[in-house]
Amino acid sequence: MNETALAVHQTARPQGFPTADHFAFVESAIPDPPVGSALVRNLYWSVDPYHREMMDDLPGGFALDAPLEGRTIGQVVASRTPRLAEGEIVFHRQGWRTHAVVTPEKTRQLPRFDSVPLTAYLSILGGTGLTAYVGLTRVARLQEGEDLFVSAAAGGVGTATGRFARLLGAGRLVGCVGSASKADHLMREVGYDTVFDYHDGPVADLLGKAAPDGIDVFVDNVGGEQLAAAVGALREFGRIVRVGTISQYNTPNAPLPRFNYADIVEKSLRMEGFLVRNYLDLQEELYEFAVPYLQSGRLALDETVVDGFEHIVDAFLGMLHGQNTGKIIVRERTRVPS
Ligand SMILES: NC(=O)c1ccc[n+]([C@@H]2O[C@H](COP(=O)([O-])OP(=O)(O)OC[C@H]3O[C@@H](n4cnc5c(N)ncnc54)[C@H](OP(=O)(O)O)[C@@H]3O)[C@@H](O)[C@H]2O)c1
Repeated sequence: MNETALAVHQTARPQGFPTADHFAFVESAIPDPPVGSALVRNLYWSVDPYHREMMDDLPGGFALDAPLEGRTIGQVVASRTPRLAEGEIVFHRQGWRTHAVVTPEKTRQLPRFDSVPLTAYLSILGGTGLTAYVGLTRVARLQEGEDLFVSAAAGGVGTATGRFARLLGAGRLVGCVGSASKADHLMREVGYDTVFDYHDGPVADLLGKAAPDGIDVFVDNVGGEQLAAAVGALREFGRIVRVGTISQYNTPNAPLPRFNYADIVEKSLRMEGFLVRNYLDLQEELYEFAVPYLQSGRLALDETVVDGFEHIVDAFLGMLHGQNTGKIIVRERTRVPS
């Protein structure tokens, strides 16, 4: 058998948007797992906006010319530990490569729920869904009937936020996205009431038209102009859930839009950011909430699935340019259990 392993390395630090030239696919022999570990063949990979932040020369960032990290689901193909059986499906963080040597401590066995595909553990039941769930239930503390505005509403976190908000009894759902087709999709399929394209004018004007009576909660994946506009649109006791700042990841030196700081005081607003890794204890609660809805069909998956590990860099770059709808996931081409 001539199978070899492939891993993606970052080879240079980007200024602005990264390109394929900042990465290399590096081939090697398939590793032998030492005693106490197992060899996993990866099947599904998550590529995420935070990987763009890790490409910069910052503490905790990606090392150059070394395999990258990322969330992935794989199958144990050779084991030298009784705790990882051959054939078992596991979640771990040695993504961006076809094969990984893992230890039981650094892997998570995934619960299998009837009719729930494996991709869900990287989308609505994974870090993406958990981020949306934490944002709504713990940070915003969403109340029934409250009106919501979501930025990057057609992405992984944005679609999960919209679907969960509907199930939690939210009032009006307003989103902003980068294209008319994404806006149509969100209104037709995901349960948003009004969605606008942020390219169509000043965001404050577009939001003013979409939510003329204001909003109670803003779930912010973007920062910048969207955040400034939302501060103006929030009602008294409104909450801003700061999830991410994707408008800055590729243009860190762009001037930041201003907003009226007095609004925070006069309207008694609360702005709170969070990192999902500090809420992993809510994983089981997310399963309890979301799985019955998935099984009954009241909750659907929003995923853009790209076939073939050789397209993982393109998938990542495409996501940064808005080519995904829902969570972007890369899938091994052959022999993939679902
Ligand atoms: N706090 C946490 O623990 C946590 C966890 C997960 C994710 N996040 C953050 O949540 C956000 C969404 O993550 P995700 O994984 O769900 O990614 P995603 O939304 O699926 O993908 C990124 C989307 O961002 C939009 N975008 C890109 N550049 C933009 C810009 N300059 N202005 C406005 N929109 C832009 C694009 O959609 P358009 O076509 O609409 O522009 C793109 O599809 C990111 O900021 C990420 O860092 C935070």
